[in-house]
Amino acid sequence: MFSSKSEYPKYYSYKGRKISKRISLTQKELINKIYNQYSLDEQIIKYHNNYDSNKKITLPKRFTKVNIEIGFGDGDFLIKNAISYPNELFIGIEVYLNGIAKVLTNISNIKLENIILSHLNSIYFLEAIPYRSVDKIFIINPDPWIKKKHNKRRLISSEVIKLLINLIKTKNSIYITTDSELYLKDMVSLISKHVGNIGTYDLRILSKNDRLYGISRYQRKAIEKGEKIYQLIF
Ligand SMILES: C[S@@+](CC[C@H](N)C(=O)[O-])C[C@H]1O[C@@H](n2cnc3c(N)ncnc32)[C@H](O)[C@@H]1O
Repeated sequence: MFSSKSEYPKYYSYKGRKISKRISLTQKELINKIYNQYSLDEQIIKYHNNYDSNKKITLPKRFTKVNIEIGFGDGDFLIKNAISYPNELFIGIEVYLNGIAKVLTNISNIKLENIILSHLNSIYFLEAIPYRSVDKIFIINPDPWIKKKHNKRRLISSEVIKLLINLIKTKNSIYITTDSELYLKDMVSLISKHVGNIGTYDLRILSKNDRLYGISRYQRKAIEKGEKIYQLIF
């Protein structure tokens, strides 16, 4: 991974944090040793370098369902899902290297065989896989980038919504949670523009018994501060 990252920095580019604490030598060695076995990044980069829209990347076919989590952070939800549903594939995309290292450590310790990781900026991964190839997409508390001048760094844009809608097999399979009312409002207004393509969307405030409540570090921090967790499904 490290060599392709220095050769093709464009596909890894992102304007937020990428490493918070130093990666240990053991984690670095683990990444060097097994990351490529659990990743399609080299194929994705090749796809973009030799662009041909008819030659999208094929996802493994031995799983009953394909799920994607974009921006999995520490990977708690990704790992939990992979353990709970061993027959389903979980693709985790994350630019934050510590998160990649943590999931790889779990893959190696628990012998998980149903995770694919990507360290690329998610847009490149999403553009390279076939339309209608994904059962569920999860985006758990994406960075809200509240300041107006930072709004364009947000993961959710009109183009990304269009792409996500094209990737899912059936409507109402994209799940987004956030604790930011501002981001929520902007996402709802973007999604509303696509209502013709998605039928409708569902918006609710989550409570303790809901499946996606309290499932990640960012969510738990927000809950501790007394914030609400909103869920959008479309
Ligand atoms: C606010 S954090 C939330 C992390 C985790 N989902 C949670 O709730 O604890 C957002 C995460 O999305 C990742 N991220 C943001 N934009 C991304 C992109 N374009 N591609 C891949 N990961 C991205 C960031 O690195 C960060 O770890």
